[in-house]
Formats: sequence, structure tokens, C-alpha cells
Amino acid sequence: MDVGLKTQILPANEAAIAAAARCLADGGLVGFPTETVYGLGADATNPEAVARLYRAKGRPSFNPLIAHVSDLAAARRIARFDAQALALAEAFWPGPLTLVLPKTGDCAVADLATAGLDTVAIRIPAHPVAREILRAFGPPVVAPSANLSGHVSPTTAAHVQSDLAGRIDLIVDGGPVAIGVESTIIGCFEAPILLRPGGLPREAIERVIGCRLVRPPEDKSGDSGAPLAPGMLASHYAPRTPVRLNAGQVAAGEALLAFGPADIPGAGASRAVLNLSPLGDLTEAAANLFGYLRALDLKGANAIAVMPVPHHGLGEAINDRLRRAAMARE
Ligand code: TXA
Ligand code: MG
Repeated sequence: MDVGLKTQILPANEAAIAAAARCLADGGLVGFPTETVYGLGADATNPEAVARLYRAKGRPSFNPLIAHVSDLAAARRIARFDAQALALAEAFWPGPLTLVLPKTGDCAVADLATAGLDTVAIRIPAHPVAREILRAFGPPVVAPSANLSGHVSPTTAAHVQSDLAGRIDLIVDGGPVAIGVESTIIGCFEAPILLRPGGLPREAIERVIGCRLVRPPEDKSGDSGAPLAPGMLASHYAPRTPVRLNAGQVAAGEALLAFGPADIPGAGASRAVLNLSPLGDLTEAAANLFGYLRALDLKGANAIAVMPVPHHGLGEAINDRLRRAAMARE
């Protein structure tokens, strides 16, 4: 285990971008902002760097990673795009969309990063700091969310530091992220499949492909061998405090994660209250979600009671993360 590394934290400027590119080239691990969540980057073509990344996150190595690239030409070197995948790439890249596609014959991404699959997940992020790091470095960069495996995804550099300080080389601090939930993942198979709801609402994707996106069958156990979206472990995005969904009232000792008017019975007596969006705006709620889960997790409450969140637009991703946060853990 690489615990004991000195983790450097730099504000996002030219020097930090050059340092990040050097660190990646040396096989190091760099936390950096994307528009969705902070990522933990490693050189996708360097199996040792990828192995260090899995170790630093404590991540099961059957769980494949997303290769981040700076433009479509780079994406086409590692994956084969059919007409529909190209339409999605043109409509939504750079942005919060990941496409799972067949690898090219000479795909440079390490087998360890794709967990030996013959497909690769690709994203062109929109965040200017992420893009500059990718351009300065060159090869694809694998980047899972920069948190310990199973923990809440980071939306600030401080979150990255609290999970990974001493385990990674560098954190580039670009301030809080804009979107706050991970990218939407589409499997570009015969029929496109929504592998993970995320920062790009399904409605926008369905307008481009002209049909409804299907979801894969539910992966309840997370240890069922080779699920379609291997990363969708049932319990994920989890605070340590139990999470209770669809709360219509707050019990003694509970903290409240509200949405809209926080006027349910017991709200006034709750241990702590954070409101994802007092006016019921789903974009604002997504941006606040992981930070508020982390903050309420520190309040010593018996549970975090969560008010219902509507299921349309970004609500699908928010409800997916909340459901995973609420699943029983050993
Ligand atoms: O917004 C995001 O996507 C962030 C930022 C940093 O870009 N990254 C992120 O990565 O959320 P991660 O590793 O936490 O999630 C990657 C997901 C996992 O659920 C994984 O199983 C899935 O992508 N995945 C990767 N390659 C796949 C493949 N070939 N087939 C199916 N699913 C794949
Ligand atoms: Mg993650």
C-alpha cells in the first residue's frame, strides 16, 4: 500500500497543470476537478499506475474505469464508434456523458483498466482544468471518482483530501464542481442501454437517439460475477450514518436532508437540517447532494432522513445515488 505518500495540493493554474501532467507521466496519481465530480487520474496506458490507483481507492479490481480523453480523434483511437455513438458524442461531448464502446484492435488502454472487457468506457470532460491536464499529458487518463471505494464522491478538493491524503501524489484544487453527480453512462450496444443515470438527463439523450433508453436488469448483490455495469455495486455512495429514504417525518435523533419546503413533522427538532434545494430545483440539488451527505454524516445522528426527490431530469441520478447510499451494509 502506498499510504505515507506526501500529497501535494496546488491551486489550479498553469504550474499545477504542468505538475499534473508530469506526475501522470511518472506513473503517479492526481486528483483533479471535472464538471461532474473530482476524478483520481492515472495514465490509462500504464498498468502499474492503474494498479496503484485501484490500491489507493481500495477498489475491487473487477470494476473497470473510464478513460478520459481530450477530443474525439483520441477517443476514436481507442474505441469503435457507430453512427449512433457518433451522434451522441457530437451532441454531448465535452460533457457529463460516458460511452461504453467496443475497443479498437490497438486500444492503448491497459487491460487492468477495462477489467479485461472487450469494451472501453470513454468520456471527454468539459471542465477547463481537466481538459488542460488531458491536453498537456497526451495519452488517455483513467479517472474514477477521487474517493475511497464505496464512499461518497467528492465535489471539492477538501473532500478528496479527506479521503485520499497520504495515498496519492497531487490534488489540483479547481474549486467546487458544477454538476455534482457522476456522468451518465450509456452502453452503445444494439440497443443503447442506460448503465448509470448521471449528470446528463436521460430525456436529453432520448431526444438525440429517438427512442427510449432501457436500464439493465438490477444488480442487487454487486458480487454476481460480471454484471453489465460492473461498477454498479449495490451499496455505493454511502455515508457511514444509515440513510432513510422518502421520509414523511423526522424521528428523534435523526438529521434531515430536505428537498423543497422542509415543513414535515419533526423537522424543527432534527439534529441538523440541510436543504438540497429549498425551491425544488434539481440542478441545484445534484450539485449539493454529495457535499450535504458528507456534512450530515458528521453530525452524530442515528440516521439521515431524506425527503422525496422527483424522478425526472437529474432526479433520476439523484434518486439512484440516494438509493445506493441507503442500502444495508455489513
Ligand atoms: O463523472 C464521472 O464519470 C467521474 C469523473 C471523474 O469523470 N468518474 C466516475 O468514474 O464516476 P467511476 O470509476 O467512479 O465510475 C465508472 C463507472 C463504473 O460504474 C464502471 O463499472 C463503469 O463506469 N464502466 C467502466 N467501464 C465499463 C465497461 N467497459 N462496461 C460497463 N461499465 C463500465
Ligand atoms: Mg465512483
